[in-house]
Amino acid sequence: MKGIILAGGSGQRLHPLTCAVNKQLLPVYDKPLIYYPLSVLMLAGIREILVISSPRCLPQFQALLGDGAPLGLGISYAGQERPRGLAEAFLIGRDFIGKGACTLVLGDNIFLGAGAARQLKRAITSNAGATVFAREVSDPENYGIVELDRRGRATSLVEKPAHPRSNWAVTGLYVYDNRVTEIAAGVRPSARGELEITDVNRVYLERGCLDAVRLGQDVTWLDAGTPERLLDAGLLVQEAERREDRKVACLEEIAFRQGFIDLAAVEGRAAALADSAYGQYLTRLVAEAREDAQTSGGRAAA
Ligand code: TTP
Repeated sequence: MKGIILAGGSGQRLHPLTCAVNKQLLPVYDKPLIYYPLSVLMLAGIREILVISSPRCLPQFQALLGDGAPLGLGISYAGQERPRGLAEAFLIGRDFIGKGACTLVLGDNIFLGAGAARQLKRAITSNAGATVFAREVSDPENYGIVELDRRGRATSLVEKPAHPRSNWAVTGLYVYDNRVTEIAAGVRPSARGELEITDVNRVYLERGCLDAVRLGQDVTWLDAGTPERLLDAGLLVQEAERREDRKVACLEEIAFRQGFIDLAAVEGRAAALADSAYGQYLTRLVAEAREDAQTSGGRAAA
């Protein structure tokens, strides 16, 4: 399974914040926004990742994430000349996707709570076409809205409906089989001039193979696309980290726990970031892991 993070867009609702800086590089409390969607892919075990953004912003993403090797990932990059719509990800990413399946996550979407990655993992195994992840909202006219039957099969799909038939919004996380590149190639620009992901999903719906997974109650979903929600996201992360005394979306920790990298790699990163709370957290992580290894080594010897 390959992963695509769509991290372009114009970010107009965040102007002037995004006049010079890409939305996905803005801070959400103590890390750049893109860390959060990337963490979901990593927690689901996805290691080959394509970051798509505007050619102007790609060098900054490369400076932040490099080739992914220090995280045990393979990260590659591709440019989207203009924000021509979410479905263009599958045209830009066609070679990257190759003959396999792919998961797409929008770069401004945050899923807090371990449940999201668990549900994604399950969907990757059971996906029979396309899978979207839905969350109940109070303002359905602002979202892509899906109706689902009891088995989780989608029965209708409408983008920003004037008369919504359900309250279940499609979030920015999607799993597709290999047909997605061919389906996206057949999509025509909408009235607003974009290649709409809803049109891709509708093809799967018409073929009877669009699943909609209701996100669990333990999952908090938000897209950080407006100043209010960006601030809310930062405050939520701060609160979660304070409450748990653990970091959310700490990429090195996830990579280590997933077995993508060893402790020495975490230690190297901790030293490089030593002046920050993030780096000090990594130092603590290394010490805890050593202690755990000693305790279990001692137990094994006894
Ligand atoms: P949006 O929030 O729909 O668009 P935007 O980021 O341009 O913001 P605004 O509406 O305020 O101008 O995009 C959702 C996500 O998808 C976001 O992470 C940016 C990304 N995106 C692309 O990478 N390319 C695109 O063509 C579009 C439309 C969005």
